[in-house]
Amino acid sequence: MTFLSICSTETIKSAAQSLKNGHLVAFPTETVYGLGADASAPQAIARIYEAKGRPSDHPLIVHIASIDAMGQWATEIPGYAITLARDFWPGPMTLVLKRSDLAQDFITGGQETIGLRVPAHPVALALIQEFNAIGGKGIAAPSANRFGAVSPTTAEAVAEELSPYLLEGDLILDGGPSLVGVESTIIDCTGSTPMVLRLGAITPLMIEESTGLVALEANPAAIRVSGSLNSHYSPKAKVLLDVIAEPGDGLIAPDQIPTPNGVIRLSAPGTIEQYARELYQALRSADQRGLSVVVVLQPGGDGLAAAIRDRLQRSAFVE
Ligand code: TXA
Ligand code: MG
Repeated sequence: MTFLSICSTETIKSAAQSLKNGHLVAFPTETVYGLGADASAPQAIARIYEAKGRPSDHPLIVHIASIDAMGQWATEIPGYAITLARDFWPGPMTLVLKRSDLAQDFITGGQETIGLRVPAHPVALALIQEFNAIGGKGIAAPSANRFGAVSPTTAEAVAEELSPYLLEGDLILDGGPSLVGVESTIIDCTGSTPMVLRLGAITPLMIEESTGLVALEANPAAIRVSGSLNSHYSPKAKVLLDVIAEPGDGLIAPDQIPTPNGVIRLSAPGTIEQYARELYQALRSADQRGLSVVVVLQPGGDGLAAAIRDRLQRSAFVE
C-alpha cells in the first residue's frame, strides 16, 4: 500500500488507473474517508468486503461524478429524487433508487436497489472524473474502517484501520480532515415519498423544504443498512452517554462544559458542526491513549445533532 499525501492531478490520474487495474483506493470525502473500488469489477469489490471484514450481503454506495450518471445506475427515478439530487449534490446525501442492469448483485448485496452519491470533496470528484475518463462507470466505497468500527475522518486514521488489509498497488489519498465528519444521509427514493434510512447532515427538514414532501422515518428492523445495526461506530473504549466523568475517563462534551479534575478532554466543540467534525477522531484518540472509558455528553436539538445522537447510541450499545 502507498500513502499519497499530495493529491496533484497526476497522482489522482494514477489513482484512477489503479482503480481500473483492480486495486483499492481509499479517498477523502466531505463526510468520512471511503475505501474505493471499481463498481463494475467483482474481484475488486470482493477485496473491499475482505479488507473491511464486512458481511457480503451489505450493499455498497456507488460514487458518481454528477447527476447525469444517475440514469446509468438507476431506473424509474421519481421526480422528488431528481429535485434532491439538484439541491444537495455534490454533498453528504445518498439516494437509494431502483437499480439498472449495471448495478449487479455484488454491489447491491442482492437487493433490487442501488445507493448513489456525488461527494463534494474536490479530490473525490476529481478521482471519479478521471476514472470516468478511462472508461470507469462509478466507484463503490464504504467508509474505510473495519466492520463495526469508527469511520475514519483522516487519511492517517484509514492507514491505522486498514494497513494490514491493503496490498501492494493499493493507495490511500490524503485530502485532509473530512469537513462534515458523519456519514451521508441515506434516503430511500423507491416509494412515493422519501424515507430516511440513515440520518446525516442533510436533515428531514431540508428534504421537506426541497421536495415539498414529508420525509418518512424508516423502521430500523426493515432496513439492511449496516450503520443501522444496534452496535456500530464503536471504539475499543467503553462509551458512556450523559454520565459524570470520573478521573481517568475521556470526555467529549460541548465547550461550555468544564473538564472535571483528572478527566482527559478529547473534544470541546463550540458548534454542532464542530461536534460532528471532531467526534470520530475524538473517539479514536480515546483508543490511542489507551483509555478504557470515554464519557460523551450528547448534543441537544434536531438536524445534525440528531444524526450525532444516532451514531452515539450505536457506539455506546452493549449487546
Ligand atoms: O458518507 C458516506 O456515505 C460514506 C462515504 C465514503 O461516501 N460511505 C458510507 O458507506 O458510509 P458505508 O458502506 O459505510 O455505509 C453505507 C450504508 C451501509 O450501511 C449500506 O448497508 C447502506 O448504506 N446501503 C447502501 N446501499 C443501499 C441500498 N441499496 N439500500 C439500503 N441501504 C443501502
Ligand atoms: Mg460504514
